[in-house]
Amino acid sequence: MAASNFKRGILQKPRWSIRENQVTPEAVFNDRRAIIKALGLGAVGASLPGQVQAGLFDLFGESKAQDPFVTKKLDFSKNSRFEVNELLTPESKVISHNNFYEFGTSKTDPLDNAQGFNVNPWQLKIDGLVDKPITLNFDDLTGILPLEERIYRLRCVEAWSMVIPWVGFSLGSLLKLAGVKSSASHIAFETLYDPEQMPGQKSRLMGGGIHYPYVEGLTLAEAMNDLSFLAVGLYGKTLPAQNGAPIRLVVPWKYGFKSIKSIVRIRVLDKQPPTSWNQLAPQEYGFYANVNPEVDHPRWSQASERRIGEGGLFSAKRIATLPFNGYQEEVASLYSGLDLRRNY
Ligand code: MTE
Repeated sequence: MAASNFKRGILQKPRWSIRENQVTPEAVFNDRRAIIKALGLGAVGASLPGQVQAGLFDLFGESKAQDPFVTKKLDFSKNSRFEVNELLTPESKVISHNNFYEFGTSKTDPLDNAQGFNVNPWQLKIDGLVDKPITLNFDDLTGILPLEERIYRLRCVEAWSMVIPWVGFSLGSLLKLAGVKSSASHIAFETLYDPEQMPGQKSRLMGGGIHYPYVEGLTLAEAMNDLSFLAVGLYGKTLPAQNGAPIRLVVPWKYGFKSIKSIVRIRVLDKQPPTSWNQLAPQEYGFYANVNPEVDHPRWSQASERRIGEGGLFSAKRIATLPFNGYQEEVASLYSGLDLRRNY
C-alpha cells in the first residue's frame, strides 16, 4: 500500500513512493532461495555466523520468524457455491506475503513480528443500531455459527492477487443474530488497538502513517450481501496471526484493504464511517474500493494483476483484472446508478 501525500509524516522520501513497476518482480522475490543457491551461497551461507546469515536473508526478504503462534484444525462444510476454477495460492505464500501494517509495512514483517500476538482472550462486540448487542468471546468466534469453507480471489490494490480457501461464516448471518434496526445504513469495523503487541501502532514510521486503530466500513447492503464473509480460518485451520487472527473480514469484490483484520468491534450506524486508507490518502483510496480494471490508481494501472506463487524465476504471471474481481453477478446491482469512477 502506498500513500503519496503523507504530509504530516517525518519521512522525506517514503519507501512506498516507488512505483509498482519498480518493485522487485514477485517471482524474483519468491525464488530468493533459488537465487541464493544459484549464486553458490547456499553452502557458504550455512557456514556463516548467525548475524551474517540473518543479513543475507534480509537482503532477499527471507523471514527469520520462529512460529510460536498456534493454529488449530477447524470443523466446517464446503460451500460449493463459492468455488473458483483456478489454482489455489500455496498456503506457504498466503501466510508469508501479507499486509498488516500494525506489524510493519514490508510483506514479510507480519510473519516476522506477529508470532507472539496473543488472541486469547479476545472480545468482539457487535453494537450500535441493533436490537440485541452481542459480545463474542474467543471460543464463540468458532462456535456461534456453523463454519463453511469458501474459495475466494483476493485482489490487493497494489495489483497482486491470490486465491484463498477461507473458513468462517457470512457477515449477514451474524448481523441477523443482533437484529439490525431499520434506521441503519452502514457498518463500521475496528481492529484491536494494542501498541504493546502491535509495534506498528507505536511508531508512525513502522505503521505506515496510519492513525490507529485501523478502521473500515461497508454500506448495510454490502454487508448483507452473501459474499461478505467473516473468516476465522484459512486452509482448514484457525487464522495465523499475520492473516488477521482471530477474526477478519473478507469482501472479495473489493480491494484487499477493505478486508480488515483482527476485528474487535462491529458497529451498526446510520452514516458512512471513516476508513483508514481513505483518511490517509483520499484521492488514492475511496470508501467503495471496488475492484475496477477501468479506474487506475493515480500511480499505477489496475488493468492487470500478478498472481502470487505462479510464474517462474524472472516471469511473474500477470492476468487481466476482472470488474468486481469476477463477482459482478453477485454485486453489480448494489451499485446501479452510482458513478464508479467518482465513487472509487
Ligand atoms: N487490516 C488491518 N488491521 N491492517 C492492515 O494493514 N491490510 C489490508 C487488509 N487488512 C490491513 C488489514 C490489506 S492492504 C490487504 S491487501 C489485506 O489485509 C491483506 O490480507 P492478507 O495479508 O491476509 O493477504
